[in-house]
Amino acid sequence: RKRFRVHHLAEHKEAGRKLTMLTAYDTITARIFDEAGLDLLLVGDSAGDNVLGHENTIPVTLDEMVVAARSVARAAKHSMVVVDLPFGSYEASPEQALQSAVRIFKETGAQAVKIEGGKRIAAHVALLTGAGIPVFGHLGFTPQSENMLGGKRVQGRGDEAAELLCEDALALQEAGAVAVVLEMVPAPVAARATEILRIPTIGIGAGNEVDGQVLVWTDMAGMGAWSPRFAKQFGQVGQALSDAAQAYVSEVQSSTFPGPEHQYEH
Ligand code: KIV
Ligand code: NA
Repeated sequence: RKRFRVHHLAEHKEAGRKLTMLTAYDTITARIFDEAGLDLLLVGDSAGDNVLGHENTIPVTLDEMVVAARSVARAAKHSMVVVDLPFGSYEASPEQALQSAVRIFKETGAQAVKIEGGKRIAAHVALLTGAGIPVFGHLGFTPQSENMLGGKRVQGRGDEAAELLCEDALALQEAGAVAVVLEMVPAPVAARATEILRIPTIGIGAGNEVDGQVLVWTDMAGMGAWSPRFAKQFGQVGQALSDAAQAYVSEVQSSTFPGPEHQYEH
């Protein structure tokens, strides 16, 4: 299997082959997902709530993204690695975005970045694209703006909001974005955006008429008790891990582990 590259995005869309993307935050999961055949690995700032113990993505720093991206990129032999620019690392200007993205490229080995927003970051996308950094857009519910959007809510409902979302998507495409993530968008609106764009759409809570899907891996694998409506649990890895940990505790406490096969002779 060859490395998934930027030209494969449009090729998949044209051929009607769905794009597959999961988040990854470390080497262990990245190796598993890379070998499982994922096209794209997203080093998401969802690390904030999923591995760093924060309430949301807002506190995540560029330094933390660099550490996570480096460990994912080391393990990803085939999947393309896409890294979120975290809150506060790009909003001020296109130049700030370029500086942050250049840091990610120089220090991690990732192949693309993702930025939340539409028209307001079109100039940022154009500058990065011109510098040779592929950019993924992110529209609909954009977690970094949670405070402005009034919580985790479906976006693009109603004709006017749907029209604005499509305008934002077109602005991103015009600026050179290579794909757009659509999060918590009514399925018909995501389908419409997918139809009018040349670049692929990757949905999360955006229905099935998009060019690909992304999920947060901890939701996908059933690591926690709760996951959002749009996140099907494809496994119960959290329960399996808990079972293993409890078995370990009990075998150590009962002196069953280690057995003779786990020890060294003199
Ligand atoms: O950080 C993240 O996990 C994301 C996905 C939800 C698209 O941005
Ligand atoms: Na994100």
